[in-house]
Amino acid sequence: MDPPPRRLAAAQLLLLLLLAAASPAAHAWKKDEFRNCNQTPFCKRARTRAPHSLDAPLSLAADSLAVSPDGSISAELSHPSRPRPLVLRLSALPPHALRLQIDEDYSTATPPHRRFHVPDVLLPDLEARTLHLPEPKTADGVSTVALSSDFDVVVKHDPFELTVRRAGSGDPVLSFNSHGLFDFEPLRESKPEDETWEEHFRSHTDKRPRGPQSITFDVSFYGADFVYGLPEHGSTSLALRPTRGPGVEESEPYRLFNLDVFEYLHESPFGLYGSIPFMIGHGAHGSSGFFWLNAAEMQIDVLAPGWDEATAPENGRVDTLWMAEAGVVDAFFFVGSEPKDVVKQYVSVTGTPAMPQQFATAYHQCRWNYRDEADVDGVDAGFDEHDIPYDVLWLDIEHTDGKRYFTWDHSAFPNPEEMQRKIADKGRKMVTIVDPHIKRDSSFHLHQEATDKGYYVKDANGNDYDGWCWPGSSSYPDMLNPEIREWWADKFSYESYKGSTPTLYIWNDMNEPSVFNGPEVTMPRDALHYGDVEHRELHNAYGYYFHMATADGLLKRGEGKDRPFVLSRAFFAGSQRYGAVWTGDNSADWDHLKSSIPMVLTLGLTGLPFSGADVGGFFGNPEPDLLVRWYQVGAFYPFFRGHAHHDTKRREPWLFGERRTAIIREAIHVRYSLLPYFYTLFREASVTGIPVMRPLWLEFPGDKETYNNGEAFMVGPSLLAQGIYEDGQKSVSVYLPGKESWYDLRNGSPYKGSVSHKLQVVEDSIPSFQRGGTIVPRKDRFRRSSTQMVNDPYTLVIALNSSNAAEGELYVDDGKSYDYQQGGFIHRRFVFADNKLTSLNIAPDNLGKKFTSDCVIERIIILGLRSGAKKAIIEPGNEEVGIESGPISLRSGSSPVAPTIRRPNVRIADDWTIRIA
Ligand code: NOJ
Repeated sequence: MDPPPRRLAAAQLLLLLLLAAASPAAHAWKKDEFRNCNQTPFCKRARTRAPHSLDAPLSLAADSLAVSPDGSISAELSHPSRPRPLVLRLSALPPHALRLQIDEDYSTATPPHRRFHVPDVLLPDLEARTLHLPEPKTADGVSTVALSSDFDVVVKHDPFELTVRRAGSGDPVLSFNSHGLFDFEPLRESKPEDETWEEHFRSHTDKRPRGPQSITFDVSFYGADFVYGLPEHGSTSLALRPTRGPGVEESEPYRLFNLDVFEYLHESPFGLYGSIPFMIGHGAHGSSGFFWLNAAEMQIDVLAPGWDEATAPENGRVDTLWMAEAGVVDAFFFVGSEPKDVVKQYVSVTGTPAMPQQFATAYHQCRWNYRDEADVDGVDAGFDEHDIPYDVLWLDIEHTDGKRYFTWDHSAFPNPEEMQRKIADKGRKMVTIVDPHIKRDSSFHLHQEATDKGYYVKDANGNDYDGWCWPGSSSYPDMLNPEIREWWADKFSYESYKGSTPTLYIWNDMNEPSVFNGPEVTMPRDALHYGDVEHRELHNAYGYYFHMATADGLLKRGEGKDRPFVLSRAFFAGSQRYGAVWTGDNSADWDHLKSSIPMVLTLGLTGLPFSGADVGGFFGNPEPDLLVRWYQVGAFYPFFRGHAHHDTKRREPWLFGERRTAIIREAIHVRYSLLPYFYTLFREASVTGIPVMRPLWLEFPGDKETYNNGEAFMVGPSLLAQGIYEDGQKSVSVYLPGKESWYDLRNGSPYKGSVSHKLQVVEDSIPSFQRGGTIVPRKDRFRRSSTQMVNDPYTLVIALNSSNAAEGELYVDDGKSYDYQQGGFIHRRFVFADNKLTSLNIAPDNLGKKFTSDCVIERIIILGLRSGAKKAIIEPGNEEVGIESGPISLRSGSSPVAPTIRRPNVRIADDWTIRIA
């Protein structure tokens, strides 16, 4: 049967577009537009299967087990009733990650197609880094291999089951198929007469020409009290709530399928714009992680304790069920004594996050749309008039000529280059939107070129796929093809993108991809990509490739010298290498403010540290108090941008009366003063993958109180903040973990650790604290943009712990180029001990490039200093400077509360010691 015509009648289309752009109320989540597990045959089949009940469970053929010359272990998995065996490969990565790959055996009876292995996500040197595994020891149908000196892999042959366990104690850490749910539907030569492979959803038919090919298995996380990860879902809970089992009302599994969901729910396992199939288990007895590299639709159940047996396991264990529509098993097991080890191992496989430019870590102002050049001027001037810093002004889809990206609406933006230059003169930048749907208009050169070159994704019949999006009839470049990505990247050159300048950066939206008239608002699964790959196999990575090609375009444009800034809505594992993401079209309500924290924390845990939510909420008009609270929370998001739907009232920060303007100004100032700290954290993230914004338990892994706290969060190791998520809230309980004291960021008041404090809610800030034992670098002078702060002096805030000691770091580079990769940076560790503050160089020597700075430290605030010290001696030089009581912040009216070393004027680039005398 032919699929129904994809072109809708003009009237229907008009209605669709009107709906898409209409008032917020018209956007309410339309559940029926999307499939649930019961409407998704592979999910329904897998989910209804009882443990150990499979008809043809796979077993490992002992005589096939061998160590290959590359150091990996190979074996066959089979069952007499299956047409062909599967091949299994086990390999190890340092320090003790295990990779499990299972695919069809293409060497014997060749199946009609090869299953899709997602390319370009794993780091290219992965194979070179794999360790040589020793010969397995086999006895009684069980083979054991040492993964490292600390961990073993135990493989049970019949049925196949795999466990990573601690070498000494034998305690399991992670297991695969211990509940006998592993199934792998083999590809078949042809469709049997009595089977229907087609699937129908609403008016759409998926031909499924290759038949069923799903994969299911169970994974258990031992020692875990909770599991985390699997973005992207709306949730106010940081830990993934169980989706099945005792005490759980029947719910949907977590769905990973990149979708453009209008007015998404703040609380739902339903899949949003991006997918990262990575889960972390954590508890008092350990941390571990599991990553399945597969870009097909995935559904994952978190099973409540006791789901398959009467008693819940001792020491904690969380069982999970993973189901994917297609692809192969390419899975990684990460074991770590600490949760940070697990995150580090995940990024060692998928890549460390890109180091952003300094400006990108500051405040961004966006709206759909800033109408014209006069509007841009007015908004830009408004920030200056109201003494509010900002760094980037954004233009949404209306700036183009009829949604043809890389063009300008010349009546509204007649002089784009001059407009960008005026903004750039104040040290600011601009961003324009570039979406993947290309208007099918024969007079549009991009469309002509893509058509002529055959660069579009094809429909199931082999024609250029034609779907509807903002410009109307559109086609989508096939980003899986490296040649097409290269072509796309070239479109960002100044010659090609007329009206762009070096201070213009890019926003990739709708790249799930969003198709208004497609099944579930996306591309049909039977559409075809480069290499005969079906869209179903690639879907979750389409946006990733688009983001990659755009970031490469900016890199090329800047001749490899300017770090790209590209914000993407869709993402996949590895997106951290290409830029930032945001949580899409949230709503201006308190619940969405609250869920933004677990959402951003989850992204950070799964390798994507540079994320944030639309401040103020995209749909609807925030009550002014909500907007204020959102700025106060947003100032701590790694990506800090105000954005709003075109139907909402204008909401630039000065439009809500003087008092509120002052509070928003203060929130943005807090962010600007902390920029040196944020940038240092981005550096850490770019080296280790440890996120900028962190769940409390990442810093306090042993503290059970923190395990499901999604309301408070850490910014780096030193700051803790808690949002205010209710209108008119009078008091709030804030749990401060650890033994050491915490100091209120506003006034330096100390608070005990390991205690839940009931605090009065104040209007002009949210509860935020510096942890005892840390040193935070700041820049406190207020400027128009981060660029104008480059030469400003620093303030160091030392918060002493109970041993009168503290430590912190400062990382500085030129804020834009790649010189830092050759050593062009300053990296200092500040250590306070024995009444002495020392600045130590922690940058490696002689990497080629040098970066220096004449910036000095103008104030050192010491919280928790007990002595009545009056002076400090700077060494070398033995210069004496005074210690006086000073304010914590430079805002007007702040009272002097903390001992402050005034004007020590030591350079951040130098070694020195300041002794409190
Ligand atoms: C959807 C995006 O999520 C939103 O941020 C943007 O304003 C609109 N598309 C229009 O481009």
